[in-house]
Amino acid sequence: MQGVQGTYNDKVVRQFTVMTVVWGIVGMLVGVLIAAQLYWPALNFDLPWLSYGRLRPLHTNAVIFAFGGCALFATSLHVVQRTSHVRLISDKLAAFVFWGWQLVIVAAAVSLPLGLTQGKEYAELIWPIDVLIAVVWVSYAVLFFGTIAKRAVKHIYVANWFFGAYIIAVALLHIVNSLALPSGLLHSYPVYSGAVDAMVQWWYGHNAVGFFLTAGFLGMMYYFVPKQAGRPVYSYRLSIVHFWALIAIYMWAGPHHLHYTALPDWAQSLGMVFSLILLAPSWGGAINGVMTLSGVWHKLRTDPILKFLIVSLSFYMMSTFEGPMMSIKTVNSLSHYTDWTIGHVHAGALGWVAMITIGSVYAMLPKLLGREQMFSIKAIDTHFWLHTLGVVFYIASMWIAGVMQGLMWRATNADGTLTYSFVEALNATYPYYLVRLGGGLLVFVGMLLMAWNTWKTFQAARSTAPQPILPPDASQARA
Ligand code: HEM
Ligand code: HEM
Repeated sequence: MQGVQGTYNDKVVRQFTVMTVVWGIVGMLVGVLIAAQLYWPALNFDLPWLSYGRLRPLHTNAVIFAFGGCALFATSLHVVQRTSHVRLISDKLAAFVFWGWQLVIVAAAVSLPLGLTQGKEYAELIWPIDVLIAVVWVSYAVLFFGTIAKRAVKHIYVANWFFGAYIIAVALLHIVNSLALPSGLLHSYPVYSGAVDAMVQWWYGHNAVGFFLTAGFLGMMYYFVPKQAGRPVYSYRLSIVHFWALIAIYMWAGPHHLHYTALPDWAQSLGMVFSLILLAPSWGGAINGVMTLSGVWHKLRTDPILKFLIVSLSFYMMSTFEGPMMSIKTVNSLSHYTDWTIGHVHAGALGWVAMITIGSVYAMLPKLLGREQMFSIKAIDTHFWLHTLGVVFYIASMWIAGVMQGLMWRATNADGTLTYSFVEALNATYPYYLVRLGGGLLVFVGMLLMAWNTWKTFQAARSTAPQPILPPDASQARA
């Protein structure tokens, strides 16, 4: 009989995959609710824990760290085993990482509606939860890099480089930005103050985008796009240049979040320049992914999973073109504070992050259940159209609303007085909020369809028996 050591640890991957779908639904439901609150403010029912200010960070934490996080754990732990041809170094550590991360999420889901917050965007969680995050994250790093260290092939496939960079960078960002002096169990004071605090926060915030929402998902891209296309990655050399350029440049772009603030002017300009340069590696990487389809473009007609993966890359290109433009100070003076930023965020978040995740889950899950494919391919195709339409409604409405707001706020009459009052700009925005809500609902319904398909695939699973580790051969060493 084959011992457990001759097989992959797929259990932890399956667990994280299921929770990706569950937290995706929860996080997007809260997104739909806050989108509705912006149109019908009475939907907070005068209850403090349903107020917009508390639900908004619940949404961002749930979609980024619960939905996106579980997807990254699932895919990185899957990819590192399959490309290293070894089992994870420890089943106990893997189980600790899974349950520890779920505990973090539940603690966030309870503390944020209660109004317990550090007040730093994307780092709202109070210090005891921050400590738990650090412990779980370091365990994850040991699990991932430990497995790389005992790999059965010499080569470290490029997807693992991206996953590795995201794991190291997130540890660094989280620990440095969360440094605080506790003044009780639920409260603390940050060690930084003033402009330094703002700079550290947006060094964190921007690199959370760069490493959590980008590098990790590029790891997914470099494994699942070639797998699904049945082709090797377009240019392996380009993927290495892409990697080094991306990680070298991202770290310096954070000040574009602080244009026209008390941050020294030279630092703002530096952030702008690095943001403009960032366009090149971002597009280089995306083109490498898209061109992997060379010779098999026809597959896009029949394979909805490939459609998810490739359209995600188009949204990635869109948001990484838009981002550098918005970092130009004069453009930012129009876009900042408007819904244009919200449109940009969701082009990246719903277009890139969610679509590459959904495509990867559909590609990976059947393999973990001894099946060739998901229960219903038709449902994947329907999901694709629901999601794509939803994203287009969301981002198009926010772009128009944002540019309109910016122009209305700065319009002046001949005598120098403002042409529009603030409330006039708000009134003009209402129809767009309704369109955004419609888009969000389409995306949400698509997620429910995904849950149904996942459920049926589990029911029809041929086997959840551990799968044997494949011996490395020349082609597998790279793919
Ligand atoms: C059904 C899908 C979704 C809907 C309806 C939705 C809706 C919203 C709304 C209404 C806001 C607040 C906007 C404001 O304050 O003006 C928001 C913010 C945000 N959402 Fe979503 N969202 C969805 C999915 C996602 C996903 C999947 C992600 C990430 C992977 C995400 C990331 C964010 C972020 C980062 C913000 C904060 C943006 C900022 O501060 O500039 N959202 N979302
Ligand atoms: C080359 C790549 C990118 C650059 C240079 C860039 C640049 C920018 C700029 C200039 C802003 C507006 C800052 C402000 O006015 O406050 C912004 C906001 C934002 N971007 Fe990007 N972006 C890029 C890619 C992305 C991607 C791919 C995502 C998501 C996956 C993303 C997520 C966000 C978020 C969440 C915010 C809002 C932050 C906040 O204020 O809460 N960005 N980005």
